[in-house]
Formats: sequence, C-alpha cells, structure tokens
Amino acid sequence: MNQTQVKEASQFIQGKLTHEPSVGLILGSGLGVLAEEIQNPITITYTEIPHFPESTVSGHKGQLVVGELEGRQVIAMQGRFHYYEGYDMKQVTFPVRVMKALGVETLFVTNAAGGINETFKPGNLMIITDHINNMGDSPLIGPNDEDLGPRFPDMSEAYDRALIDHAKQSAERLNLQVQEGVYVGNTGPAYETGAEVRMLRTLGGDAVGMSTVPEVMVANHAGIRVLGISCISNMAAGILDQPLTHDEVIETTAQVREDFLGFVKELLKTLPA
Ligand code: 6GU
Repeated sequence: MNQTQVKEASQFIQGKLTHEPSVGLILGSGLGVLAEEIQNPITITYTEIPHFPESTVSGHKGQLVVGELEGRQVIAMQGRFHYYEGYDMKQVTFPVRVMKALGVETLFVTNAAGGINETFKPGNLMIITDHINNMGDSPLIGPNDEDLGPRFPDMSEAYDRALIDHAKQSAERLNLQVQEGVYVGNTGPAYETGAEVRMLRTLGGDAVGMSTVPEVMVANHAGIRVLGISCISNMAAGILDQPLTHDEVIETTAQVREDFLGFVKELLKTLPA
C-alpha cells in the first residue's frame, strides 16, 4: 500500500462522485444499515476499486456508499477490513488514506464491542474517549511519508475532545443514555478469556473489540478528527455466566439499531461545519 495506490483508488472513486465527501463513516458489525439511509447514494463495491482488499466477515457488505445524510456529504464503509482476516495494518487502514485523499476531514468510526466495565449493559452505546492499542502492531510502522503526516504523531486527543462533547450533547437532546469509555483493540479472532478481560479492566479498558484502533491511528496521522462509537453487543467473558457468540453480537446490534441510527443522524445534523 503506497501513495500511488491511494491516488489510483481515490481517483477511481472521484470519477463516480458528484460531490466531495467531508465526513467518513466506518460502519461496524451489524451497523451497516446506516448506509441505507444515505440519499442519492452512489454505491461502489470494494472489488471494483483498484488496490482495495476484499472483506470476508458475515454481517459486513463490502461496499462504499457515498451521498447525503442529514445535509452532509458522507462516504460510508459498509464493512471494514480486520487484522484477524489476515490483512496487514496498511491494508486495514488503506480506506482511511483514500478518504483523506477524497477530502474527508471528520471520521466517525463505529464498532460492536464487548463490555468490560461491569456497569455496562448489552445494547448500550459508548462514546469512545480513548483507546489502548493491544494489537502488537501499528499501521504507521515503516518509512514515513511526511506528505501524509508526521513521523511521531501526537495521540493525546486521538478522539477529538470537541466531537466527544458534541456527542454527549447530542445524546442528551435525544434523551439517549450513552456510556463513555476506553476501547481496547485486540487482534481477535478469538474472544478474550476471563483472565484477559480482568487484565484489560485493570489496565483501564471499558470495552474490547477487534477493530478501530488501526483506522484511528491513521486518521490521527493524516490530520482527520475522529469520533468513535461502540455498540456494546455483549459483556466480555467472565462477567455473565454464558459463552460468547458472533450471533449474539449481530442480534444485539439489531436491537440497538434504532438508537444507533438516531444518534449518528443527530450527530451529523448538528455537527459544527
Ligand atoms: Cl467480548 N471481544 C472482542 N475482542 N470483540 C468483540 C467482543 C468481545 N464482543 C463483540 N466484539
């Protein structure tokens, strides 16, 4: 994945667009329905786009949907690339580089995550205030192109403070209870053991998932401001006395779909320009 490939991918996409998108949306497991609300959609499957990897997980569609949502020009990823699928970090984050090349300035990243914080309940939405990269890898390793971003990017506000405040105010207007917390990015594909969940809680994690961290690192490197939202689809291992299944993740995200859709729409509607 290099700058030439980013250029070829973004020029291919640009050739199909009538408007420049300013907000990027990465839609996690079970949350892709949001893209169906986009007006005058232009849909581009990942397989068409030069250098785009192909998405393999069920519950993920594998396409870009570009158009208008709540008065904003958005570009949505219906399905993302996961490290556990075998893609390297540069492949996982390639779409974020492409979004930047297309003009995206703000990125909403969403995911389904397991609750570590025992006060959380399945079905809760969580504004991500910070993250812990527990993947043992970084998309920024390797030669640095100063045109893309700095060698040593600041991550002290990885999740934009003003966007967090905006999200809290938006939730309040909707009378929606939202949690706030730290997202831990694990590689997956296995869910954590009970001991690992206790460790992550000790380390300051509130929710755990298998995505988001690489994309957020690259967005920060690229100077894109980030808002992160987790859908707590289940409690992580050892909290409730029951095994974890991907079906449960999909089921719960379906139940909070309306809350999630309403929340993201309100966030866009009232997003300061
Ligand atoms: Cl419990 N763990 C991880 N790593 N990812 C998840 C999850 C748990 N629940 C949904 N996604």
